[in-house]
Amino acid sequence: MAPTTSDTERSGAFGNLGTAELLIIKDEVARIARELGRWAQDQSQRHYRGEEGVEVGTKTSPGDFVTSVDVHVQERLVQELIAAFPDFGFLGEEEHLNRFDASNPVWVIDPIDGTHNFVRAYPGFCVSIGLVHDGASLLGVIYDAATDAVFWAVTAGGAWREENGKDERLNVSDKDSLTTAMITTGFTATSAADPAHIALFADLIDSAAGTRVSGSACRDLCFVAAGKLDLFWQFHIMPWDVAAGRLLVTEAGGRVELELGEGGLLSGAPLVIFAGAPGVVDEALTRRGRIVNA
Ligand code: IPD
Ligand code: CA
Ligand code: CA
Repeated sequence: MAPTTSDTERSGAFGNLGTAELLIIKDEVARIARELGRWAQDQSQRHYRGEEGVEVGTKTSPGDFVTSVDVHVQERLVQELIAAFPDFGFLGEEEHLNRFDASNPVWVIDPIDGTHNFVRAYPGFCVSIGLVHDGASLLGVIYDAATDAVFWAVTAGGAWREENGKDERLNVSDKDSLTTAMITTGFTATSAADPAHIALFADLIDSAAGTRVSGSACRDLCFVAAGKLDLFWQFHIMPWDVAAGRLLVTEAGGRVELELGEGGLLSGAPLVIFAGAPGVVDEALTRRGRIVNA
């Protein structure tokens, strides 16, 4: 059974966030994520059917989409989270949301992870909310629209998948070699043009038993935590893509290696991630080292 607030002593102020406080916060965040994620899923289906309502634009390149739903979900998350937790700051993907005092916990938000999937009604987008303090993710909540499930983790509370009110504990797979592993990565315009990313991609697809590319880093991390995938890795990934999911993977017994830019996770700069079953992450990092040194 998932831990509940009655399982642990409440320790008081939010400045000292223990498992009990985090579980209370998680309940509220999961409720909000589910409500907004269901609404977004409905908007995606309406858009696919040709109904009006979703505006689609681009940001840094013709393939870098943003929609009115990304912006609306982020605005609603901020409204709801400020009302419930007035002391916490925000870092979010849309509209340059960067409003925090690093001495307090910070919500790191990807309102729609997998926007291209959302636009095409291709299954696989998420609402992702991480709570970060002193460089660590304390809580991660990810709503997976394709399955209507909430994946969640709190520090020292395990990783869980909640569907229809039932929590199921998550564990990374027991694979310890790429030879039998199913792995995944993702691409942005920048990573697709980065020779280091492409060289490692070529090496890893050759080494692994199978490769998948879903278009949602958050979903990939949930699936790693659930043992459906053995490795997620990517270059040029952003803090909101990983702030929640990295905790799911570690709480599920996995290993996460992050290479952060100057200023750490909250600088909003691109980073590198390897997350998965510990032995598979080790092997991928070794292969990367060989390529770099070749
Ligand atoms: C993208 C997805 C994709 C990953 C990209 C992200 P977005 O997020 O997670 O899988 O490979 O790096 O930018 O733009 O759909 O929120
Ligand atoms: Ca994203
Ligand atoms: Ca996004």
